[in-house]
Amino acid sequence: MVTNHTHTMTDRELDSFIGHVKVHTGINLDVSKRYLLESRLGPILHKFSLNSYAELLRCVSVSGSIENQALISAITTNETYFFRDDHPFDLLKYKLIPDLLGENENAVVEIASAACSSGQEAYSMAMVLKEILFDLTKFKVQIKAFDISDEIISAASKGEYSNFEVQRGLSTEKIRCYFDCVGDRYQIKPELRSIISFSKQNLLNPVEPVAKFNIIFCRNVVNYFEESDRAILFKNLASMLLPKGVLVIGATEFLNNQFGHFVKKVDRGSVYYEKVA
Ligand SMILES: C[S@@+](CC[C@H](N)C(=O)[O-])C[C@H]1O[C@@H](n2cnc3c(N)ncnc32)[C@H](O)[C@@H]1O
Repeated sequence: MVTNHTHTMTDRELDSFIGHVKVHTGINLDVSKRYLLESRLGPILHKFSLNSYAELLRCVSVSGSIENQALISAITTNETYFFRDDHPFDLLKYKLIPDLLGENENAVVEIASAACSSGQEAYSMAMVLKEILFDLTKFKVQIKAFDISDEIISAASKGEYSNFEVQRGLSTEKIRCYFDCVGDRYQIKPELRSIISFSKQNLLNPVEPVAKFNIIFCRNVVNYFEESDRAILFKNLASMLLPKGVLVIGATEFLNNQFGHFVKKVDRGSVYYEKVA
């Protein structure tokens, strides 16, 4: 029985975990990340009463095992907060949604929050929609949010946050308007939750060849991937978008021409990428 997290990986185990993480998440670690791997995987040994990293390697190699789900959740970095970077939400509010609904209020609008983490991005989008559309039931607007981690998807779909989490990015007014208090936690109101669905998806896996999204936010994940996986990611995102659909990536991320599929646009200081029709 493991009683502490001080196990050290052999070089061979380190290489195997690096390869495993790459195959299952696309995240590119190298041997300099030994400390990160040991500090995040050590608690998993403890949780599943495993005696060694060799045993953990055997468990995670079983497809769909709970140990492998725990490993993916431990390695992926879930940092996020409401209205992160502000600009993309202004773009949504003042440009993207008015462009889509301006001429036809009955238009179907599908928005994706890809790599959504614990849901703050998707719920921020829903708050923007509520602010400009007032009655969400009168419009055919839906948000689909997905992430590779089971644990984070299950947390996101609950829509329940701590005081610290709601304070990150939300005014008192927004907290009052969009949350119900549940004990010392805050739960997103049903009206906002009703337009969002959460599901598990690895953005590097082949996607259904059905383009349906008008807008995809895929922010703060590209930088974890090496060049070849970025190409797969952008190809997948392009195939999920309708012609002229819009992709918004993170403030420190770039989509250069070599990936094709998109043209860069700027509106009121916000950069976005439009799918080539
Ligand atoms: C730093 S968070 C970004 C959350 C949010 N998009 C934002 O900008 O605030 C990165 C998220 O990407 C997810 N992720 C990592 N690799 C992924 C993959 N291959 N497919 C889908 N999601 C992935 C992680 O689980 C994590 O929740």
